Amino acid sequence: AAADRITLDKMVESLREGVYEKILVVAGAGISCSAGIPDFRTPGSGLYDNLHEYDLPYPEAIFDIDFYRKNPMPFVTLSKEIWPGVKYRPTITHCFLSLLGKRGILQRIYTQNIDGLEAIAGVNPELLVECHGNFRSSGCIDCGSSYNADDCKSSMVMQGEAPICTSCGGLVKPTIVFFGEVMPNRFSQLVHVDVASCDLVIVLGTSLLVDPVASIPNWVKSDVHRCLINRDVVGSFILNKPTDVFLEGDCDEIVRKLCQLVGWEDELDQIYSH
Ligand code: OAD
Repeated sequence: AAADRITLDKMVESLREGVYEKILVVAGAGISCSAGIPDFRTPGSGLYDNLHEYDLPYPEAIFDIDFYRKNPMPFVTLSKEIWPGVKYRPTITHCFLSLLGKRGILQRIYTQNIDGLEAIAGVNPELLVECHGNFRSSGCIDCGSSYNADDCKSSMVMQGEAPICTSCGGLVKPTIVFFGEVMPNRFSQLVHVDVASCDLVIVLGTSLLVDPVASIPNWVKSDVHRCLINRDVVGSFILNKPTDVFLEGDCDEIVRKLCQLVGWEDELDQIYSH
C-alpha cells in the first residue's frame, strides 16, 4: 500500500528518532569525485574514457590480472596518478559516513574505493571493508608473497617498472583487487552476517555494475529500507520498490540536506573542518 512506502520524510524521522541502529553502506567512486578523483564510468570525465594513451584492448584491462601478467606497463604508468598521497582530503560524504560511525549506528561500510579516504575521515577500521583492497600493502600475483609497499611504490612511481618477486620471480603489484582476483577475506567473513542483520542500506556514488559488491543491496532482507544517493538510478533501485528511496543528484549536496533535516549538520561540519 502507498502508506507503507518509505519516503525521505519517514527515513529522516526514523534517523532522528534512532530507529535505525545498523546501517550498512555500499560506496563507490562517486563519493570521491568532489575530492578531485575521477570515477570510472561517467562519460567524458570517468577514467575509462581517458585511457587512450595506453593502447588497451578495452579500458578495464588496466585492472585485469591476466592482462597485467602479460603487460604490466599500463597499470604501472597509471599508478603514478592514482597512488594515494597526501593531496586528497575526505569529502562531506566521507564525513557523513564517519558521523554514522561516531553515532554508533553504522554497521559497516563496504567501499569499492581504493583511495583510503574513509579511514582518513575517521571511520573506525573495524567498520570498514575495503572490498577492492588498498595500496598499503603489495604482493606477488603468482605466489602471494608480500612485498614492501614503499619499495613497490618507488619502483612503480619513480622507476616506472613493476617489481619482481624475490621468492618466485613473479610480478608484484599493490594489493588492490584486479578483475580476475579474489575478494579480500574480510569481505567474505563479514558480508553474510552484515546483510542478515542490517536495518537500513545506504548506497552512494556507485554504478552497481561490478559484482559481488553490486549485489550486496540485493542480499538484505526484503523488508529492509534501502536508500540510493546517486546521480543516476542504478542496480535493482530501478524497480522502485516500496522499501526504496532514491535521492537523485550530487552526494555531498544530498548528504548535507539529509543532515540538515535530521539535525546533524553541525556535527557534520565539525567532522569536515577537522
Ligand atoms: P563508477 O564510475 O562505475 O560509478 C560511479 C557512479 O557514481 C555513477 O553512477 C555516477 O553517476 C555516480 N556519481 C559520480 N559523481 C557523483 C556525485 N558527485 N554524486 C553522486 N553520484 C555521483 O564507479 P564504481 O561504481 O565505484 O573496480 O565502480 C566500481 C568498480 O569498477 C571500481 O571499484 C573499479 C571499477 O572497475 C576495480 O577496478 C576492480
